[in-house]
Amino acid sequence: MNKTKTEILSPDAHGLCKAAEILRAGGLVSFPTETVYGLGADAGDDAAVAQIYAAKGRPSFNPLIVHVADVSAASKYVQMNTAALRLANAFWPGALTLVLPVVPGAAVSKLVTAGLDTLAVRVPDHRVATAVLMAFGGPVAAPSANPSGRISPTTAAHVLAGLDGRIDAVVDGGPCDVGVESTIVSCVGVPTLLRAGGIPIEALEACLGAPLQRDEDPDAPVSPGQLASHYAPKGLMRLNASYAEPHETWLGFGPVNADLNLSTVGDLTEAAANLFGMLHQLDDLGAKHIAVSPVPYHGLGQAINDRLRRAAAPRD
Ligand code: TXA
Ligand code: MG
Repeated sequence: MNKTKTEILSPDAHGLCKAAEILRAGGLVSFPTETVYGLGADAGDDAAVAQIYAAKGRPSFNPLIVHVADVSAASKYVQMNTAALRLANAFWPGALTLVLPVVPGAAVSKLVTAGLDTLAVRVPDHRVATAVLMAFGGPVAAPSANPSGRISPTTAAHVLAGLDGRIDAVVDGGPCDVGVESTIVSCVGVPTLLRAGGIPIEALEACLGAPLQRDEDPDAPVSPGQLASHYAPKGLMRLNASYAEPHETWLGFGPVNADLNLSTVGDLTEAAANLFGMLHQLDDLGAKHIAVSPVPYHGLGQAINDRLRRAAAPRD
């Protein structure tokens, strides 16, 4: 994170054009939605998405919500089903995020899904958010625009209080109307509430004509917070390895002669951008035993180590 100056953009033609330009160049732009201010990056650009985690100082890679302009844009990235279409038609644009199977080969960074085969999408209901999405012309990954562990911002001033100097720009569209994050519903299988939020649960259940399954139900999918659900490669992983045994595939970091290398120059942002793609590649290579170089704990290194530790944890 070597950004120096965070530009404050007006939500006029010039500001929106600038915002789209920054996103296209792989930069970070905060913009208002009806719920909270989001911290946006090009969802298809690994390095740009890695910058989101760096700017927020997130200690782990939570999957991010992808913002799109309308239902038809959403269906380029996720496989809509009957329940999802019913909810989308009733509540989009609006404070509802749907988790659905990702379209295979969709142009979305694996860092957005944290390596999962599902994707969270939402169509925001805010003039400025819509205008940013239209001007950019693609999917925008955006968590709330606050440093990790701090409260979500509902004004541009809040965004600057937390992230000034760490992001390229904020589009100042005034205070957010809803003020709490979107409600998240997984439509993978039985519709399940993953997070209460801006759209009341009763309204969703009335629309579906059935109660939403709750995350705490024994049969429900694992909640997003419990990152055990995150993708882990099939092979067994040995962390902090300074070399690979002959039977091991080496996932390196830094100037080592490994089979795959997160960043030969030891750049943590580059390593974060490569992480999930390389974990998948290890499966493609049929790696049964994987040695992983040590990754330093500063900056994005914390999140990378958190993810590696989970991927290496004993499993059934
Ligand atoms: O209102 C909102 O939703 C705001 C605005 C900016 O749109 N965004 C927001 O994003 O709150 P964030 O990153 O703070 O929260 C995203 C939540 C996380 O709890 C994450 O675990 C969950 O969405 N999530 C994202 N992708 C998921 C997936 N594939 N499966 C399950 N949960 C997912
Ligand atoms: Mg948040």
